Amino acid sequence: EVMRELTGISETERALKATLGIKKVVIVPGDSDESLIVKEELGKACAEVLNGCFEDQQTIAVTGGTTMACTAEMLTAEMGQGKQLLFVPARGGLGEDLKHQANVICATMAEKTNGVHRVLYVPDQVSQEVQQSLLKEPAIMEVVEKIKSADIVVHGIGEAITMANRRATEQNVMKKIIGEKAVGEAFGYYFDEKGEIVHKVPTIGLRISDLFDKSYVIAAAGGKSKAKAIKSYFKSAPESTILITDEGAAKSILKDI
Ligand code: BG6
Repeated sequence: EVMRELTGISETERALKATLGIKKVVIVPGDSDESLIVKEELGKACAEVLNGCFEDQQTIAVTGGTTMACTAEMLTAEMGQGKQLLFVPARGGLGEDLKHQANVICATMAEKTNGVHRVLYVPDQVSQEVQQSLLKEPAIMEVVEKIKSADIVVHGIGEAITMANRRATEQNVMKKIIGEKAVGEAFGYYFDEKGEIVHKVPTIGLRISDLFDKSYVIAAAGGKSKAKAIKSYFKSAPESTILITDEGAAKSILKDI
């Protein structure tokens, strides 16, 4: 704590909290764009915040991404001890690489904490009609209900164009994302600088509006390259969100206001 005051990190946390208008901000030193160690520290800080929220029998909805993958690695058996935690993916297929998919991250989180997990298999490129009928399948319906009633949501925030490229987004959608000047992305929703949603990846699971009645919402995202994304996302995100970020992102957000 003394170190954090001396290095000015606590001060930056207070400033960022005020700027974004949210409950709590945790900043790790460095910039995760530049170093994997910083990203691992971000994951560790996120795992510690999660640990502070864990209670017996809780359901945790998790998104995909490299930051969530780092978080999963930092969870421990001690954190889950005696708690029977259940991990579920926040949304269906978003076109990520296997190791960065929410299903896989949930499995790791469950393994690390001696908890359990459920998967949600929704193919990426299916029509709305097929999705609607999948939603009527009892096994899928059951997982979707667990997602909707999750106690904790933990998620990443991405830079819009980076995410659209990573997901091999269709040409016409890509044009829309660029044309509407999207800067941020979370849960498959793309946001412009004003925080308005400009595109939604059509899949099932958690919607942004579901975040507002959760006990805990934790967002983890760092790196200077995500400054605009983080800022735009928090224009419409719930105030109760706890943000775990790094100095690179924090300083850049505070600079351009
Ligand atoms: C995705 C999430 O899997 O990861 C997105 O669905 C999020 O909502 C993204 O923006 C962040 O990824 P990363 O690798 O930058 O942590």
